Amino acid sequence: MQNREAGVPSARIADMLQREQDLFVQRHPRSRDLAERAKAHWAHGVPMHWMLDWGTPFPIYVASATGARLQDVDGHAYDDFCFGDTGSMFGHSPEPIARAVAAQAARGLTYMLPTEDVPVVGELLAGMFGLPFWQAATTATDANRFVIRWCRAITRRPKILVFHGCYHGAADDTFVRLKNGKPIHRPGLLGQVFDVTQFTKVLEFNDLPALEAALAEGDVACVLTEPALTNIGMVLPEPGFLAGLRALTRKHGTLLVIDETHTISTGFGGYTRTHKLEPDFLTVGKPIAGGVPCSVFGFTAEIEARMRQAEAENQPGYSGMGTTLSANALALHAMRANLEQVVTPAAYDHMLPMSERLARGIEAKIKQAGLPWHVSNVGARAEFVCAPRRPRNGTEAQAAMHPKLELAIHLYLLNRGFIIAPFHNMTLVSPATSADQVDRLVAAVGGCIDELLA
Ligand SMILES: Cc1ncc(COP(=O)(O)O)c(C=O)c1O
Repeated sequence: MQNREAGVPSARIADMLQREQDLFVQRHPRSRDLAERAKAHWAHGVPMHWMLDWGTPFPIYVASATGARLQDVDGHAYDDFCFGDTGSMFGHSPEPIARAVAAQAARGLTYMLPTEDVPVVGELLAGMFGLPFWQAATTATDANRFVIRWCRAITRRPKILVFHGCYHGAADDTFVRLKNGKPIHRPGLLGQVFDVTQFTKVLEFNDLPALEAALAEGDVACVLTEPALTNIGMVLPEPGFLAGLRALTRKHGTLLVIDETHTISTGFGGYTRTHKLEPDFLTVGKPIAGGVPCSVFGFTAEIEARMRQAEAENQPGYSGMGTTLSANALALHAMRANLEQVVTPAAYDHMLPMSERLARGIEAKIKQAGLPWHVSNVGARAEFVCAPRRPRNGTEAQAAMHPKLELAIHLYLLNRGFIIAPFHNMTLVSPATSADQVDRLVAAVGGCIDELLA
């Protein structure tokens, strides 16, 4: 019997990996030269180590990107279904963003003072997500860090609760995992000197009885979660889970924080608006200002009142929230252009059917090949998973990962002009993505499957 991984002969995966790596090196001489040169002064050869997470022998160096297309320095063009892992998911440099950035660049970028954009952006955010009050930060990580701090200040409770397999950015408090049912630090966590598990509870997603027990202890300030996990593959909420989460958090005086940074793909106003969730706080970053670093967090009127009370009861000093460049004029101007002209209901009217087309297309290829794989999607975000069943939680999602097979697929696609997210098999479609691009990707995934099984 041949060894197989997710229905694919292991020898085929190894062959494809080797062949595609060689091909990648041949096709990218200029990227290779730049990567060599960068090694002299950048640690690991890159300004940020995630640029090495693609599994390629060296990174692709980008020349330019517009809409849903990207060009590298070796003259290859790509259909982009990764969009900088969501940072540019409404397209690369859409006209309104390019114009807004140029206009603001000519009149100053940051002054630690508000501009005329401020009231307008507040109104746009409230209109889109349905929460009346907002604050801005620079990254989704920061938005989550500040919200965690607010939740502790408001409730005067020390702990937070997250789900196994979550990712909310580099916020220290969230770097926990479950191992054999016990909380541990997330493997790989570096330089952390206090025990994060002392103040963060971690449970499996979709487990309401465990949640009830954990909240009943009365020490949890907030539950922080994506409405569907998207960072350990995709884990969708089972019917009733999100309603149960809301009911239990209310019952036990715990605040509910919904991180929409990735699930903004769901529809206009994110998963929250589409599915009528009622979070106390909502955080979102990445694409909110069209790719200009910026994030925001929204909250209810009740929370706003409790924030003011917590401040009034606090001694004067520095709150530990805010950073110098947060809410700078460039970010606010870009966010205004983005929310007024790019992230519109009409944009989703294009993106959602395109993503559906992509998901159903890949599903058909999987079925045709008789592979034990499946496809999940949350609006404009879709993922094919090399396992037969939808995972219920982070542990099942982790078990469904096949890093070698996924890497072989990614390299195959890169070498044929398609970029999908380097983490699992995640795709995004933007308002600029065309049906032709989707059909080409579906055909390429089909071609890859055929070669793996030939
Ligand atoms: C759900 C979610 N929240 C927050 C973040 C952090 O975003 P950033 O790295 O821009 O701070 C991420 C990043 O992938 C994410 O997926």
